[in-house]
Amino acid sequence: MGDRLILGIETSCDETACAVVRGTDVLSSVLASQTDMHARFGGVVPEVAARAHIEAIRPMVHMALRKAGVHSDEIDAIAATQGPGLVGSLMVGFSFAKALAWGLGAPFIGIDHMEGHLFAPRLENPDYHPPAVILLASGGHSQLVHMKDWGDYEILGGTIDDAAGEAFDKLARFMGLGYPGGPAIDTTSDGGDPKSIRFPRALPDRPFDFSFSGLKTSVVNHLQKAKAAEELPPIADVAASVQEAIVDVLVTKTFNAVNETGVKVVAAGGGVLANRRLRVALEERAADAGVELCVPSPALCTDNGAMIAAAADFRLDNGATSSWYDDVDPGLRLG
Ligand code: KG4
Ligand code: ZN
Repeated sequence: MGDRLILGIETSCDETACAVVRGTDVLSSVLASQTDMHARFGGVVPEVAARAHIEAIRPMVHMALRKAGVHSDEIDAIAATQGPGLVGSLMVGFSFAKALAWGLGAPFIGIDHMEGHLFAPRLENPDYHPPAVILLASGGHSQLVHMKDWGDYEILGGTIDDAAGEAFDKLARFMGLGYPGGPAIDTTSDGGDPKSIRFPRALPDRPFDFSFSGLKTSVVNHLQKAKAAEELPPIADVAASVQEAIVDVLVTKTFNAVNETGVKVVAAGGGVLANRRLRVALEERAADAGVELCVPSPALCTDNGAMIAAAADFRLDNGATSSWYDDVDPGLRLG
């Protein structure tokens, strides 16, 4: 890991996030969230997101530098998310980072957003090292990755339809819990009985793959029948049961991968890892299996600039930089 001071910029979706990182020291990590802007639409509106990034990017970069107590001249490299994500959102952070790097004469590097999530545990967990199995679960992606070495990824499986976060968001919308759905279901589950309704766990025969669209249908059918019978269950019980169904599948498949690969380190990242029940369930399974679990604190699980800087540090150590001609890639895929 380098001793360089890196400015990391993340604008792939609806957070304008910037951080200054040196090695594993996060000197500052700030973000402007657009959640309130998108809430009334029930999801992220790409054009609204891009415009909001344009307004927020300069103040956020300034705030990150000020909080870190660093002048822009001292920055050794600038990193920005290159993809995957929303094209208009990505372009704002990527172009800003490129222009700033050009102006400062600093190296510039584009980073895969999912590799950012993969590197986030490195900022807080000294025991995080390959070989490891990593569960990545966010609003746009759900994957199980076997990291054989730093930067050497085998994708073991992933979702065949909705991402885990997307499932939380869609189910919360149907249940009238608002947006974003993950945190809404997480808090609504408090005091609910997770065993009260047994929703289906999909794809039992595909050990590393996920599917969440059937769960959505099952919840809709269950609630419509209950409503017709005028026997609607308490919302906390429904939320806890929905959460349990998603968590159970994520944890089971993660540990299928641990058994298959024989690794002794499990890590996880992405916004869904902010879920309290998922964090506890992973801890329990890791303790049973006797493996090291590396899950960053919730603020480093959801989108942030520090993870982009952490991945950039690794890439720069290996001599990689981006060309001034490189562009964003909304369809970028890990590995
Ligand atoms: O990684 P992330 O911040 O952005 C993407 O790259 O997509 O993940 C956002 C997703 C959303 O779907 C959101 O509902 C979910 O993470 N999420 C949660 C929780 N906090 C955020 N899901 C479940 N429980 C939470 N507490
Ligand atoms: Zn993300």
